[in-house]
Amino acid sequence: MASVMEQIQFLSNLSGFGEQRDLASGSPLPSSIDPTLDSKPHLWAYLVIAPTSAGLIWIFWAYVLKLYLLRRFYEKQGIRFVNKCYAVVGAEMRVSGLQGKNKSHDWLYTERPTDLYGTVRGFSVQLYSTDAALCEELIAKTGRHVDRDTPALFSFGRLSPYALTFLPIDKWRFRERKVTLTRGMKDNRRLYEIVERQAELALARFRVKNGSGATINIRELLNSWTRESSGEFIWGRSNINRHLEVLDTDGQLKALPFMTALNQTFTDLRFYASRFWNRVCFPLASLPLTKESRRLDYNIKILTKATEDMMKTPEDQTVASLVQEANDELGIPIGMTRDDLVTATIAGLDTIKSTVMGTLFHLLEPENEVWKNRILKEINDLKAAPGDDMFVKLSHAPILSAFILEALRYEPPGSLINNAAVKDFELTHRGRQYNIKSGTRIVTCIHALHQNEESWRSRVDPDMAPLTEFDPNRFLNKTETIVSSYCFMPFGKGPRRCPGQGAGVMMVKVFIATFLTNNYNCRMIVPENQTKDVTWFNIYSKATFDIVCDDKPESPESEK
Ligand code: HEM
Ligand SMILES: *[C@@H]1O[C@H](CO)[C@@H](O)[C@H](O)[C@H]1NC(C)=O
Ligand SMILES: *[C@@H]1O[C@H](CO)[C@@H](O)[C@H](O)[C@H]1NC(C)=O
Ligand SMILES: *[C@@H]1O[C@H](CO)[C@@H](O)[C@H](O)[C@H]1NC(C)=O
Ligand SMILES: *[C@@H]1O[C@H](CO)[C@@H](O)[C@H](O)[C@H]1NC(C)=O
Ligand SMILES: *[C@@H]1O[C@H](CO)[C@@H](O)[C@H](O)[C@H]1NC(C)=O
Repeated sequence: MASVMEQIQFLSNLSGFGEQRDLASGSPLPSSIDPTLDSKPHLWAYLVIAPTSAGLIWIFWAYVLKLYLLRRFYEKQGIRFVNKCYAVVGAEMRVSGLQGKNKSHDWLYTERPTDLYGTVRGFSVQLYSTDAALCEELIAKTGRHVDRDTPALFSFGRLSPYALTFLPIDKWRFRERKVTLTRGMKDNRRLYEIVERQAELALARFRVKNGSGATINIRELLNSWTRESSGEFIWGRSNINRHLEVLDTDGQLKALPFMTALNQTFTDLRFYASRFWNRVCFPLASLPLTKESRRLDYNIKILTKATEDMMKTPEDQTVASLVQEANDELGIPIGMTRDDLVTATIAGLDTIKSTVMGTLFHLLEPENEVWKNRILKEINDLKAAPGDDMFVKLSHAPILSAFILEALRYEPPGSLINNAAVKDFELTHRGRQYNIKSGTRIVTCIHALHQNEESWRSRVDPDMAPLTEFDPNRFLNKTETIVSSYCFMPFGKGPRRCPGQGAGVMMVKVFIATFLTNNYNCRMIVPENQTKDVTWFNIYSKATFDIVCDDKPESPESEK
């Protein structure tokens, strides 16, 4: 037993990224052999076979056996592992299968929520926490015992490798940079003006306004609105109006607007990184091994050049100019500022699009008609009330807020909090103690947390509607309790929480308010063969719906 423990301890120091990089860059065999040895065939053979066998044994030990022992170590502590979950092929095979079914891998862990759930990802163990009390303890340990794990560095991180999200909390001026980024996003007046104008433009362009009777693909409308709003907020209108020549998937150069080129490269990087072998060994995704990877490298260069140019012509009041100014004063290198801005731009695309899409889906469901009318009334009352600007009033719109928060609970767009143990530590929960080894990925599964009946009933309300139901009532009068309960964290919590929360929620509110107050009789058309599940609108899902807006006014109120 003691010797197993020692092996485990030894393993835990090895299971970080350095090792995976070694694997990517080649085998541990010696690279050249002395030619004079040719005349001594036996010795020659011996010299080849010995290191080869030693190498193979070492690989087996380092990657397979230790992994197996570590898994046993956790299983003995009562942590359940996903079935058929072996090194390399186990969980990854199932994950690939799930993506084909329009479900994400989170689906695996919402089936049976438990305190900690184990899986093997590539060559390392990944534990999923799905229980509020355990998540609370993990958040309290963030920065000291756990910190950001960075598989995304090899995915969309190729666009912005020095961005703060890839760094440990105590290095590279993380804290100062996070403060300047958060402050740079605070101008709600300007954000409101941009987002509302862009929503009006998108609704007009896609002929939702005044009820054209046309069938409108909501995904396309929201993509366009999100790109234009986020881009203008962060970089400014003239800066994002530039076109870039990037390579499309056929290898042809194509001129695209900055935000389209950025989003496409970002998405393609994510998809490339989720190919099977790149999930097994993350650093493989960043090497120029395939045509696709080289195409992406080219586009990254073009985008890097464009963002550097944009920083030479900052536009007044934009997030970019505010962050640049503050960071310059602190003496933070320009490359880091650039990467923080690029990450902030892409972090707000898919997430906000999915949140609006989920909110609209529930809003247009016939059984939620009552909610739609209540929200419309709330917005109209706020508009009619004397005093403050609409952006201030919208921050106190309890019914609209409850509806959006429930949509974020039901389908959190950021589904995992990717962390790993930076040293050995103990997690205590319900009188039970879990020993976690340094290097183990320990991830909060937001989906599972948001579905964990036991946590919600003990920490929020024993009498609420089941969590499988969409019911904004649970947030009415209870938002404070829920937000501080650790049962609900669509934006994470603690020192690594999302700096875009305020801006993100504001954008969603403004779009929904603009949509509702502008529209006539809208109904939703869901493709008949589309199944409903928890990860409906995430990036891997092609699930969608159309809306049709007739020109009959829906109610006297909406004509106002
Ligand atoms: C509805 C919209 C959004 C959702 C649901 C969302 C969700 C999340 C989540 C779950 C995390 C991980 C938090 C953690 O580890 O504790 C995160 C981190 C982050 N988000 Fe967002 N986000 C959204 C919008 C935005 C926007 C608009 C920005 C633009 C600034 C942004 C920038 C970031 C950054 C830079 C991080 C990394 C923070 C760190 O590593 O310390 N997000 N977000
Ligand atoms: C996933 O979505 C795509 C596109 O909508 C569809 O063709 C496919 O049949 C869906 N798969 C499942 C299992 O629903
Ligand atoms: C659409 O409706 C708005 C009022 O919501 C009105 O001002 C505008 O003239 C209408 N446009 C058309 C083309 O009917
Ligand atoms: C970003 O690009 C991907 C791939 O082209 C697309 O599916 C997605 O809808 C785009 N998102 C936005 C916000 O434009
Ligand atoms: C919330 O509180 C108000 C009064 O403060 C009450 O009228 C309402 O019924 C409450 N709603 C819920 C869902 O508890
Ligand atoms: C669902 O319908 C769409 C459009 O008719 C079609 O492209 C898709 O293949 C269908 N999916 C399934 C699973 O039948």
